[in-house]
Amino acid sequence: MKDHRGGWLRAMLLITFLSHQTAECAAKNGRAVVEHHPSSYWEQPFSQPYFDNTTKRETTTTVGQSAYLHCRVRNLGDRAVSWIRQRDLHILTVGILTYTNDQRFQSLHSDGSDEWTLKISSPQVRDSGIYECQVSTEPKISQAFNLSVVVSKAKINGNSELYIKSGSDINLTCIVLQTPEPPSFIYWYKGDNVINYSQRGGISVVTEKQTRTSRLLISKALPADSGNYTCAPSTAESASVLVHVLNGEHPAAMQHGNSSNSGAATRTLALLLLLLHAGSFAR
Ligand SMILES: *[C@@H]1O[C@H](CO)[C@@H](O)[C@H](O)[C@H]1NC(C)=O
Ligand SMILES: *[C@@H]1O[C@H](CO)[C@@H](O)[C@H](O)[C@H]1NC(C)=O
Ligand SMILES: *[C@@H]1O[C@H](CO)[C@@H](O)[C@H](O)[C@H]1NC(C)=O
Ligand SMILES: *[C@@H]1O[C@H](CO)[C@@H](O)[C@H](O)[C@H]1NC(C)=O
Ligand SMILES: *[C@@H]1O[C@H](CO)[C@@H](O)[C@H](O)[C@H]1NC(C)=O
Ligand SMILES: *[C@@H]1O[C@H](CO)[C@@H](O)[C@H](O)[C@H]1NC(C)=O
Repeated sequence: MKDHRGGWLRAMLLITFLSHQTAECAAKNGRAVVEHHPSSYWEQPFSQPYFDNTTKRETTTTVGQSAYLHCRVRNLGDRAVSWIRQRDLHILTVGILTYTNDQRFQSLHSDGSDEWTLKISSPQVRDSGIYECQVSTEPKISQAFNLSVVVSKAKINGNSELYIKSGSDINLTCIVLQTPEPPSFIYWYKGDNVINYSQRGGISVVTEKQTRTSRLLISKALPADSGNYTCAPSTAESASVLVHVLNGEHPAAMQHGNSSNSGAATRTLALLLLLLHAGSFAR
């Protein structure tokens, strides 16, 4: 009699899944079924929670750029999804609640969705590591996510000091290295101020997101254009170059880069060439 009733209820449970009202009633009866059959319907594999294995498990972000780890659990039922930091087994979130004092960790979930996303705001390099999405089944099941937080840096091609002859162009190329996403913008500064295109004509900036480069071109540079030029991408450490625009009185200094020694060498070479030149005329 009991077996018969159990079977009937089980059938009803499946049939009435479409209707919310009867589903509620079936859930009530379902518990009774569990009591009668320890390894019943609820324990069967197809009703167990399982991970959607198609989500990305490797995430790279730059310092300060919010990271999102997407965990997708099917058939969750009334179990909870938690995020655990593997390094110290710290419970970060349970359900939609943050369990740690570190409020940078947040669980994002919308009702009815399968997705439980761990958001890490302003991540630092030390936040790199494995994060586990865990489901409170018996035994627990979990899925590991690998987060890499990298330092993204800008680099201006050439040396840290640049010597330019008055009247020629300042041509600076800035590349953003180690960035998973192109920066949304790149600013150029001269000293402490953003370069003001309207203050002086002949300035052009071409930024290419795809190649993560930005080129600053200042045509017909004057000594007043000398200064500390900084390339500041939105998501990377900036890079600077010291530009000296010379009046053309010191040709020996007109070279790229530092090194007083090579400056002296160039000066000697220039003098030598001048002497040779003079010599060829004298002949
Ligand atoms: C997902 O991956 C886990 C571990 O790699 C594996 O045990 C499980 O069977 C996979 N699930 C599916 C639905 O493929
Ligand atoms: C996580 O990713 C980093 C960088 O891609 C890699 O060096 C490391 O071996 C990965 N760790 C695991 C446990 O997969
Ligand atoms: C600026 O320099 C780059 C290489 O560093 C070169 O490709 C480009 O043509 C230069 N632009 C001008 C206007 O000189
Ligand atoms: C740029 O310079 C012009 C002319 O001096 C000035 O009117 C303008 O406000 C400046 N813009 C910025 C952003 O500083
Ligand atoms: C140039 O400016 C940058 C950014 O303000 C600063 O970090 C750097 O020390 C300056 N370089 C020099 C040589 O003044
Ligand atoms: C320039 O070179 C000299 C000697 O090679 C060195 O002492 C100095 O620190 C260098 N300056 C810069 C800005 O690199």
